[in-house]
Amino acid sequence: MLFNHYQDNRSAIAVKIPRMGFAVAFCVLALAAPILTLDNGLMRTPPMGWLAWERYRCDIDCQNDPKNCISEGLFRDMADRLSEDGWRELGYSYINIDDCWSDMNRDGNGRLQADAKRFPSGIPHLARYIHNRGLKLGIYGDMGTHTCGGYPGTTLDKITTDAQTFADWEIDMLKLDGCYSNVTEQEQGYPAMSKALNATGRPIAYSCSWPAYQGGLPPQVNYTLLGEICNLWRNYGDIQDSWSSVLNIADWFFKNQDILQPAAGPGRWNDPDMLVIGDFGLSMDQSRSQMALWAIMAAPLFMSNDLRTISSEARTILQNKVAITINQDPMGVQGRRLLVESSGIEVFWRPLSDKTSALVFFSRRTDMPYRYQTSLGKLHYATGTYQIYDVFAQREMPALKDSTSFLVSINPTGVVMWYISAPADEDQDNAHAGGKLRGPAFHRSANHILL
Ligand SMILES: *[C@@H]1O[C@H](CO)[C@@H](O)[C@H](O)[C@H]1NC(C)=O
Ligand SMILES: *[C@@H]1O[C@H](CO)[C@@H](O)[C@H](O)[C@H]1NC(C)=O
Ligand SMILES: *[C@@H]1O[C@H](CO)[C@@H](O)[C@H](O)[C@H]1NC(C)=O
Repeated sequence: MLFNHYQDNRSAIAVKIPRMGFAVAFCVLALAAPILTLDNGLMRTPPMGWLAWERYRCDIDCQNDPKNCISEGLFRDMADRLSEDGWRELGYSYINIDDCWSDMNRDGNGRLQADAKRFPSGIPHLARYIHNRGLKLGIYGDMGTHTCGGYPGTTLDKITTDAQTFADWEIDMLKLDGCYSNVTEQEQGYPAMSKALNATGRPIAYSCSWPAYQGGLPPQVNYTLLGEICNLWRNYGDIQDSWSSVLNIADWFFKNQDILQPAAGPGRWNDPDMLVIGDFGLSMDQSRSQMALWAIMAAPLFMSNDLRTISSEARTILQNKVAITINQDPMGVQGRRLLVESSGIEVFWRPLSDKTSALVFFSRRTDMPYRYQTSLGKLHYATGTYQIYDVFAQREMPALKDSTSFLVSINPTGVVMWYISAPADEDQDNAHAGGKLRGPAFHRSANHILL
């Protein structure tokens, strides 16, 4: 049973469960072996915050679109919202600039400089504004001759200079894109920037777009190496404000989970890209699906939306405390897709600390709510009775025995997400009776319940 296997993760290495018809072999190598992680102490849980790109792109037209153009005003506005509207307390602490922030030319000393019209107070001033609100500032660079938007890039000879500039400005995170460079330059440049950031003495989290430029898979991509030099990395293409984009990204990550899942852990995360919840493309069910699947994937939670005008429904999804707790689990084990049903239902699972776990029932269907029948036992939970919390309905469910068959109703393109724990009493039973004894209170006579 999966539950037992991940309970004792210190001694387990790689667990295969031969009787299963589908791939649930769960590798806990990342927990057990002394895998090297970038040693800057940052991002022991997936980073959370806000990133400009998906929603604001390269809008530099401050004359005609002053509220939405890439400018210090936009980042100050979002910092105000993060600090005043309850986001920061939930963990959303990064405000990240993306492309198109800089001047078209380096300064007289060869250093990058912000566009003076759009950032008249300068980046150091913006960093102080953000730090004063208990937040962190991220910036964007590109390993190559130009950024994707055509601004000055960081060629190999500029790596030390740019790392020092960012440190001098008191930047907290760097996303290094990979436009306009070849395989060899990236192979040299991404590790070199990691060293250069370290050499500044300032802890700066490091997001590498490198794997996305090399197809995201071995042999081109070496995830062992990435974990040693980057805190997170973009494996795959950019997200767009549409359900098809969210689905395409999720499909790619779960199709390749045997490779990607073991690569993640505290300080080293796969990044399926921004949350587009609160924008224009997703229904509320689809928004819950993105939140749930990103939580299962231990994905960074960078929103790209307008926090000044976001709907209360979208905010409720993004501020869901239990979904965030699942995403931020300190054990840092990325979850997996357990099964794909011909009905269009898929089930996802993530092991969490303190013998808790998360399950997501997801429907690819486009007709009507689907009543999916299963049991925790069929999903490879060990014998026992579990406490279930429905994450988006925000309510406690009746305790559930592994053998009890249940039905969940899953909306088209939507999810049901459960946060699952073994009852506290049961821990004692486990401790004293080898996990066999169950108090009669935990036995339900019903063998089929509708949840
Ligand atoms: C730089 O790397 C060393 C050794 O890996 C580590 O101990 C130190 O904390 C790092 N410093 C920063 C600022 O990342
Ligand atoms: C990559 O670009 C450099 C020039 O910056 C060139 O010298 C080198 O041959 C290129 N390598 C490949 C594999 O194309
Ligand atoms: C991947 O990187 C690690 C760490 O740098 C290295 O030890 C290993 O040999 C690399 N693997 C391959 C296949 O190149």
